[in-house]
Amino acid sequence: MDREALLADARGKRAMVVLLTERVDAELLDAAGDRLQLVANYAVGLDNVDIAACTERNVMVTNTPDVLTEATADMAWALMLAAARRIAEGDRLLRSTQSWIWGPEMMLGHEVYGRTLGVVGFGRIGRAVARRAEGFSMRVLANGRSLTLGTTVPGTAAEAVSLPELLALSDFVSLHVDLNSETWHLITAERLAQMKPTAVLVNTSRGPVVDEEALATALSNGTVFAAGLDVFEWEPAVSPRLLENPNAVVCPHMGSATVDTRTAMGMLAADNLLAALRGERPPSLVNREVWRRARP
Ligand code: DGY
Repeated sequence: MDREALLADARGKRAMVVLLTERVDAELLDAAGDRLQLVANYAVGLDNVDIAACTERNVMVTNTPDVLTEATADMAWALMLAAARRIAEGDRLLRSTQSWIWGPEMMLGHEVYGRTLGVVGFGRIGRAVARRAEGFSMRVLANGRSLTLGTTVPGTAAEAVSLPELLALSDFVSLHVDLNSETWHLITAERLAQMKPTAVLVNTSRGPVVDEEALATALSNGTVFAAGLDVFEWEPAVSPRLLENPNAVVCPHMGSATVDTRTAMGMLAADNLLAALRGERPPSLVNREVWRRARP
């Protein structure tokens, strides 16, 4: 739906199921009007929803946590392996039908097994990515708001470190933070320069967490070895400078795109919607104060 159609269609609705491509802001909420009780986001990330504006209008907001954790963690690993081992480049070479022959220095990448993985944002998805590293005998470094630096994160083998330390020591840096004012351009040219020139950056969170132009420069001048990206700063547009780099593996925001996960996301969004319409507390309610306020 384009914006005009969405604004018109929202009028008088009691609930809306929205996609991450739709901006839920004061304008849309006001267009919907006083009957609106629920916005059910078909995504775990909520950067498209102005939660404060919803709370102010007593509109409940829900998302789709948990059901997409493992699929998104698999995607981060797929990008890590593809970028380190130049899988997409190899595929493109063969499809170009250029002649090729095996050689000792042909398509050299970097080892994954036994290396160090840095996970930035140690919530559900970050931890699922870290768990998979055990199979690759990797050291895991973690950075996240609730972690105590210099300790092992309880229940995991990950060591909590500062972001500069993580960037300097990791062979793979995988981003799993929410997009907000603190994480916008978390990865800048300066931070890319702190990484090893052999390192791989993976982003399956939200595009604007990385300064895409700075990343394109870092990839072309060898500041970092490669990147695996499922999300983009100006999505759905992808910076042409990024696409010029053969060491950028790019995918169209498909981290949760498996049949089972997308079905589970839909079922959860529907459960949230039906609960709200029945006057029950939606299972993945985000702004709980709206519920508490209505039932003191
Ligand atoms: C999300 O849920 O936030 C993903 O980006 C899409 O599944």
